[in-house]
Amino acid sequence: MLGCNSSAARPWHVVRLVVSVLGGPLPATVVVGTQWGDEGKGKLTDLLSKEMDVVVRYQGGHNAGHRIVVDGEAFALQLVPSGILYPAVTPVIGNGVVVDPKVLLSEIDALGAKGIDTTRLMVSGNAHLVMPYHQELDRVTERFLGRNALGTTKRGIGPAYADKATRVGLRVQDLLDPKIFRQKLEVALKEKNGLLSRVYNRLPLSASEIATEYLEEYAPRIAPMIADTVGFLHDQLDVGRHVLLEGAQATFLDLDHGTYPFVTSSNPVAGGACTGSGIGPRDITRVIGIAKAYVTRVGAGPFPTELTDDVGDLLVERGHEFGTNTGRRRRCGWFDVPMARQAARLNSLSDIALTKLDVLDALETVQVCVAYEADGKTYDYPPYHQSVLHAVTPVYEELDGWCEDLTACTSFDDLPRAAKRYVAFLAERIDVPIHVVGVGPGREQVVAVP
Ligand code: GDP
Ligand code: IMO
Ligand code: MG
Repeated sequence: MLGCNSSAARPWHVVRLVVSVLGGPLPATVVVGTQWGDEGKGKLTDLLSKEMDVVVRYQGGHNAGHRIVVDGEAFALQLVPSGILYPAVTPVIGNGVVVDPKVLLSEIDALGAKGIDTTRLMVSGNAHLVMPYHQELDRVTERFLGRNALGTTKRGIGPAYADKATRVGLRVQDLLDPKIFRQKLEVALKEKNGLLSRVYNRLPLSASEIATEYLEEYAPRIAPMIADTVGFLHDQLDVGRHVLLEGAQATFLDLDHGTYPFVTSSNPVAGGACTGSGIGPRDITRVIGIAKAYVTRVGAGPFPTELTDDVGDLLVERGHEFGTNTGRRRRCGWFDVPMARQAARLNSLSDIALTKLDVLDALETVQVCVAYEADGKTYDYPPYHQSVLHAVTPVYEELDGWCEDLTACTSFDDLPRAAKRYVAFLAERIDVPIHVVGVGPGREQVVAVP
């Protein structure tokens, strides 16, 4: 076994090997979170982008925080797709995303200050806008819910998707038509101001101030990016270009399939990649599920394998488990096979990238939840009724830890036997191959599983 204590730079052929083991570029590939978010989707998207032509965000908004570390420099992306660091990639914000133009522009400026070219970025005209009243409503409804608060990111994401569904949302393309923009804003704000002032005792917002901000400050800068992204994506696929669809949030934060109401307001599951980009299901040939070697969750909601003891604290500390943008401490727990199995079928996973295996380095033994028990029954998948999920007892299997530093491993062979066993055990129990393992935050800190 190679020594795992040095931090030698990894040559690009290692990255290429990982990409080729992942299956290489295919017409359209989805990267999807299999847990409750923050699995390392940004890192894997960046890694795969080397072989891609287009990288598309298909849902969510700036509730996402995707961190990429390149040569020690960290990039925390919220709206801009994680393929942005490759000059050959066209990054696309798809129709399924909700866009706060202020945040988008500040992200573009921050990337520009680091020398990253963002002029290729395209934004779907059909994506919805996050407006100031969405953020205000997110804050006041969370406060109103008190002990029942969901622990949202308070970024206005839920209210923006709610307006999309009730058809009073403003779209990115409305920035190009001031008359329409003002008309739609008037209608939406009338209702929102009633709600804010009468129900939540807040001051009403000014339509003219919002219109000035959006139409004069943001529209001139966003306008050149607005495009028919559906047409563009199909043109790209038609000439054999490779498209990566980057999910935000994750399977169990999905509005339909997650632990409702403790979910986000979009569809992160792989099916959401179709509606959120305009690419049909038959163009998607690969779905890569990103799973942490343990589980984390931010905000409220059920979490069967949560650790509220010293081990949980250790995972928080070793994994730096604090929100990429919100800074909130993430709850940590053991790997949950029933959830992973459910994620495998909800997303039709082709394979899994297991991240943050190195965080478990310090543990002498590692537990894996292989099933749940409740009411005398054993569950191999999360129980359908959420009251049962809240009451389940995890069934654990204990595996040996490895107590060795994995962060300098450059091939699967470098991993200690117990770490290999852990990876093989998870793949076998989930019944989906694990093709890549993360051993550190850096772009090259990955090993391909033969
Ligand atoms: P995302 O939202 O799924 O993109 O994940 P985040 O970026 O919010 O959180 C994942 C965190 O883990 C980031 O800080 C990454 O830099 C870091 N990370 C990703 N993969 C690994 C890994 O294999 N090992 C370690 N130690 N950190 C990782
Ligand atoms: P990435 O893409 C982790 C969680 C919030 C809250 C719930 C609803 O970085 O994995 P919202 O603001 O979306 O209405 O909040 O969803 N949440 C995330 N948790 N990672 C994320 O994104 C998240 N985006 C939202 O903490 O529990
Ligand atoms: Mg994140």
